[in-house]
Amino acid sequence: MSRLIVVSNRVSPPGPEGAPSQGGLAMAMSAALREYSGMWFGWSGQSTPAYDGKLSTQRANGVTYATMDLEEQDIEEYYNGYANRTLWPLFHYRIDLTQYERSYGQGYERVNARFADMLTPLIEPGDLIWVQDYHLIPLGRELRMRGLKNAMGFFLHIPWPARELVLTLPRHRQLVEALFHYDVIGFHTEEWKNAFLSYILQDAGGMAMSDGRATAFGRTVLPKAFPIGIDAKGFAAMKQSAEARESYDRMIDSKGGRRMLLGVDRLDYSKGIDERLLAYERLLNESPELKRQIFLLQISTFTRSEVEAYQDMIARLDAMSGRINGLHAEMDWIPIRNVHRMHGRDELAGIYRAADVALVTPLRDGMNLVAKEFVAAQDESDPGVLVLSRFAGAAAQMRDALIVNPFSQEDVADAIRRALAMPVEERRRRWRALMEGVERDDVVAWRDSFVASLEEAHVGGKTRRARIAAARGDG
Ligand code: G6P
Repeated sequence: MSRLIVVSNRVSPPGPEGAPSQGGLAMAMSAALREYSGMWFGWSGQSTPAYDGKLSTQRANGVTYATMDLEEQDIEEYYNGYANRTLWPLFHYRIDLTQYERSYGQGYERVNARFADMLTPLIEPGDLIWVQDYHLIPLGRELRMRGLKNAMGFFLHIPWPARELVLTLPRHRQLVEALFHYDVIGFHTEEWKNAFLSYILQDAGGMAMSDGRATAFGRTVLPKAFPIGIDAKGFAAMKQSAEARESYDRMIDSKGGRRMLLGVDRLDYSKGIDERLLAYERLLNESPELKRQIFLLQISTFTRSEVEAYQDMIARLDAMSGRINGLHAEMDWIPIRNVHRMHGRDELAGIYRAADVALVTPLRDGMNLVAKEFVAAQDESDPGVLVLSRFAGAAAQMRDALIVNPFSQEDVADAIRRALAMPVEERRRRWRALMEGVERDDVVAWRDSFVASLEEAHVGGKTRRARIAAARGDG
């Protein structure tokens, strides 16, 4: 079997059992690499005074973890700058938060070139290279410029936005052109893929071919939807762990017979946490009989602390939940439990299981794996209800959730009422259908379908090139 080389901004070497929960991408990649003798390459998360081109490696369970440090200026311009002040807000439809600084674009290109310098000598001819997410779009082009002919795929873990938004990006053409150096470009949903194609057809003068490939900039690539899943087997084992049972028991005890609504998010403006709290407040105002019967546990962990748009988020969330609590709380009941602490993955599994309703209501989200983990954690005889935003990639697959428009407080409040009143037979029926999808379309299926498409597209590409060369009589 070929080696699988995964490249992502963050690398997550296996940590101790019960280590704090990491982002969905890191968790999925750990599981995706498990059955491959492969390598995971990326930034160490550390800074160095001056870029030194040093590689740190560690081997665990057949996988080599190779990381490099970045200097301060790189982190500022590439990670805080172009990745998280430009691409992230723009691709999540927050043009108002998007900053277009030339220095960010330059830092982004420089770091991608540094990744390529470090990675190229580690690559062997049969390796499959799989680049992850918006931090590393130009990496494929950089690797090709250094002579690599390997099969190379790219996967975007965030939405691809409507072409009108892409057009606001200075040098949007160069960014999209870079993607055409890969053999396959993966998206979570048909919707994101179609948005990409609409740019290709309308703005890049490209063409869609009948076999699903697209041609532009003199190159051909296969854009395709590959919805990511969770590590369903790993999760099933985790929910049986002592930590998960303990946190479940604690949670049930502390519920005191009340029904629990649950939100679990990285503190990010795309997650719609403010809107969720306002919808919840509306519910309390419209249905005062629910007071004392329910509470909301909102777990939000702080990230990207150097980026201004994130800096006032904790203060805003605390002020909003404080205000709602002050207005509605009674001496022995608090409507919102607002928690910023990171939880271990096992602990979270127990919390999910104890919840009656999950509120996964992002304003825009590539996939959202919390929705899938919540489903996987449920007790099949008494499952909780998933309330899911129409704007999360997960909504395309999880049709048996209660699908809501997170911008409408009325819609979300109605869905919560409906979830709380839902008869157990309906909860079981919906849960079974959701669980079937979570188990079938898990992270292993995601990896296997991407790798199969990559191998096929690459071999196909070579064959086609050989055929054209033969027809021209030059090979
Ligand atoms: C999202 C992105 C990932 C990223 C994660 C955590 O899921 O798609 O690429 O790793 O957020 O964000 P951070 O900036 O902490 O890596």
